[in-house]
Amino acid sequence: MKIGIIGTGYVGLVTAVGLAELGHQVIATDKDINKIKKLEQGIIPIYEPGLEELFSKVRAKGLISFTPDLSAAIRAADVIFVCVGTPPTADGSADMSQIEEVARKIAENLNNYKLIVEKSTVPVKTSYWIKRTINLYKKTEAIFDIASNPEFLREGTAVHDFLNPDRIIIGVENERARDILLKIYENFQDKILVTNIDTAELIKHASNSFLALKISFINLMANICEKTEADIEQVALGMGLDPRIGREFLRAGIGYGGSCFPKDIKALTKIGEELGVEMGLLREADKINQDRIRLFLEKVRRALWVLKEKRIAVLGLSFKPNTDDIREAPSLKIIGELRREVALVQLYDPKAMDNMKQVFPEEPPYLVYHPTLYDAVKDANALLILTEWDEFRQMDLLRIKNLMANPIIIDGRNLFEPSEIRKLGFEYYCIGRR
Ligand code: UGA
Repeated sequence: MKIGIIGTGYVGLVTAVGLAELGHQVIATDKDINKIKKLEQGIIPIYEPGLEELFSKVRAKGLISFTPDLSAAIRAADVIFVCVGTPPTADGSADMSQIEEVARKIAENLNNYKLIVEKSTVPVKTSYWIKRTINLYKKTEAIFDIASNPEFLREGTAVHDFLNPDRIIIGVENERARDILLKIYENFQDKILVTNIDTAELIKHASNSFLALKISFINLMANICEKTEADIEQVALGMGLDPRIGREFLRAGIGYGGSCFPKDIKALTKIGEELGVEMGLLREADKINQDRIRLFLEKVRRALWVLKEKRIAVLGLSFKPNTDDIREAPSLKIIGELRREVALVQLYDPKAMDNMKQVFPEEPPYLVYHPTLYDAVKDANALLILTEWDEFRQMDLLRIKNLMANPIIIDGRNLFEPSEIRKLGFEYYCIGRR
């Protein structure tokens, strides 16, 4: 069986390398020719821990190849994983144009039986549209099946997640499709749940939306903590000790970002509304998340009063640690606001600065990128922490204090124990605790 991967973003690339690691022969394609050229030379265009090593390994074994030619990839493959993007449109629904284009290309190149597997996060009922599109455009009698196999990997731990899945969801319409996918994932037999396609599609959207709800819930509780003597870290711990609630995804902060949660919660809201289901619960979670930025900036103003011409160090640009991805990162809006108020912004991130420069090019003295966190905090009137990179947790606080003009930290990720950091002489603002 030869597996085709269409789209080599975070999901597609990890899936391609992961499936090759499972021993399958993989051919991957992308419409970004530069990306394919890099991959052909053995260069990984994103930062994802462990991916480079695994890629070199499967490449050396000859299990993975790349082509810029979508038609050739389709013709060569027996099973096709569709991993193209489904970005949000202005009204919050998912833009399905890339999936539609791929479906038409598959129709044009249907030279033998193929199983088409949706891997991208798609609205429930997408498989119906893919199937209809292929049937409308296909030129041969060759048959095909559709399946849904949503991806649950997290950026920053994607390789580990792929190779150690909690569950593998397989949504199929018949035994032939089911058996092919069971064979592909035979190493993870005890993790597989087989459902119908609508169910599999909804499991993905429901999972992401539920996790986003959990984060918005804890952030709402953090707001209550800030008006009382309660401490959000202990509230989260106390809640999380109940196994029905669980300890994960109860970290209060400046809200969820990334290419998934903000988009998926809006898309599921839209789907529900189109189906006549009242979706106020999810709309509220999204609203709470958007309000995190305003509340954080309020803290910054409370600490600094006027922001104009104040030197503000910003540590952490990616939407979460261990990735260079800045999509929907809280840093984007916060830096935008600091720029609007004409602060002097000094930025540092271990991996995401190149991506951020595409959005906010360097503009001294108003916006400067620094090679180390210590350079970034020099002479700053305040330091904002926006991403919980380990490097920030481990920074030399006394050195930071000596470098800063005013030792003020506004921490959007609760990295430090307030009483301890204050003992060192910092004025410290955090989330949901005093
Ligand atoms: C998320 C899901 O966790 C994956 O299971 C899913 O496969 C993926 O989306 C996707 O649909 O492709 P990801 O966006 O990579 O993964 O990152 P998460 O670790 O889930 O974090 C998302 C956001 O929530 C980050 O901005 C993070 O800072 C924030 N977060 C997370 C919190 O604010 N508090 C928490 O307790 C946990």
